[in-house]
Amino acid sequence: MGFQNLVLMSFMMILCISLYVNCIDIAEERIVAQRPNDFIKRNGTRFFLNGKPHYFNGFNAYWLMIFAADPSTSSKVTTVFQEASKHGLNLARTWAFNDGGYKALQTSPGIYDENVFRALDAVISEAGKYGIRLILSLVDNWKAGGGKNQYVQWAKQRGQSVRTEDDFFSNPLTKQFYKNHVKTVLTRKNTVTGLLYKDDPTIFSWELMNEPRSLDLSGKQVQDWVKEMAAYLKSIDNNHLLQVGLEGFYGNSIPQRKQFNPGYEGGSDFISNNLVPEIDYATIHLYPQWMSRFNQSRQDVFIERWVSMHIQDAQNVLRKPILLAEFGLNSRIRGYTVAQRDRLYAKLYNWTYFSASHKGPCAGAAFWQLFVEGMENMADGYEIVFQHNPSTTNIISQQSLRMSKIQ
Ligand SMILES: *[C@@H]1O[C@H](CO)[C@@H](O)[C@H](O)[C@H]1NC(C)=O
Ligand SMILES: *[C@@H]1O[C@H](CO)[C@@H](O)[C@H](O)[C@H]1NC(C)=O
Ligand SMILES: *[C@@H]1O[C@H](CO)[C@@H](O)[C@H](O)[C@H]1NC(C)=O
Repeated sequence: MGFQNLVLMSFMMILCISLYVNCIDIAEERIVAQRPNDFIKRNGTRFFLNGKPHYFNGFNAYWLMIFAADPSTSSKVTTVFQEASKHGLNLARTWAFNDGGYKALQTSPGIYDENVFRALDAVISEAGKYGIRLILSLVDNWKAGGGKNQYVQWAKQRGQSVRTEDDFFSNPLTKQFYKNHVKTVLTRKNTVTGLLYKDDPTIFSWELMNEPRSLDLSGKQVQDWVKEMAAYLKSIDNNHLLQVGLEGFYGNSIPQRKQFNPGYEGGSDFISNNLVPEIDYATIHLYPQWMSRFNQSRQDVFIERWVSMHIQDAQNVLRKPILLAEFGLNSRIRGYTVAQRDRLYAKLYNWTYFSASHKGPCAGAAFWQLFVEGMENMADGYEIVFQHNPSTTNIISQQSLRMSKIQ
């Protein structure tokens, strides 16, 4: 065997070994879906797990608990975690509430449907099985899950003089109802795992409310509520991280920032709400549809400025991590193409990855929303079904892989 062949062979061997190691790496990343056994912590602008920075690629699936509560649909909960894990996703954001109405968790103040609570137990247990951590939101700003409107109705039925649904944030009885709900959920003992929710590392974080908004544009109503409820929640559970559930609107604390809003405010305040000491990290949501009255290039400018301004503020003003907790493109808008949606996902994932890989505060993004096959009747135009959306699925998997490799 000549020297040149030896060199070539050694080179080939090294190549093979490195390829082989790489394959194991990738294979392991797919299999390593073990039940989380440690809490995610925060230090400065980053999340940590066992002393190492931790990053997410996530999805939204508000429907998990209600599907788990019905034997005819409960298998879809396992399927969605299986499929998500296969594509490297490690975070799901979902609802730990359903107030009044169909398949309610809380049927009336302080009264819980044990069957639905067991369904939530199962959701948490299944998520853990597939190595997926959860953000659990505790009430809705909107009517779909009962939400602040239902709380205000309950207070009215008990003789409170409430006028609008925003009285949710300031009425003493609705505040007490909400605190009772927080306590009930956090101290729930999971009938599948035996763990109290507040001791379960599968739960990454609590969220005070999905998208709090108020017509009190001074921002005082939401700010006072966040302060009071964040302190209350942390008095029960200091293991888990906490976020507000904000979309990211700027308010009065830095008026110059309002130019970055999509043309309106929401009575919340990205800066002051997130500066509350018990709030561990910030969130934004992002829908190009907020800007549907403008042309594509104007929308692109908005999107870029919205994301980059909030990441900068997380870094320099809040000194906390930030997640892009909801984003998506509706396939029902005029002129929609798959390429348009893929472009949005790729762009947002790029910014997320750029921040994370440069030790910045943006630690992940969670698209709205993941479905499995056979859920057509619930489609809202934003849904991704892996089997039906191959190009978007590929972008999602690539993002999972590179986020998981950040040191
Ligand atoms: C947080 O990180 C800083 C350095 O960035 C380090 O000095 C400090 O010990 C860390 N705190 C904890 C609680 O790990
Ligand atoms: C889009 O709208 C902006 C103003 O909002 C305008 O300046 C720009 O010329 C428009 N671009 C196109 C391609 O029409
Ligand atoms: C994302 O970043 C990659 C690599 O930096 C680049 O090739 C790609 O064009 C970017 N995609 C978008 C949509 O910005």
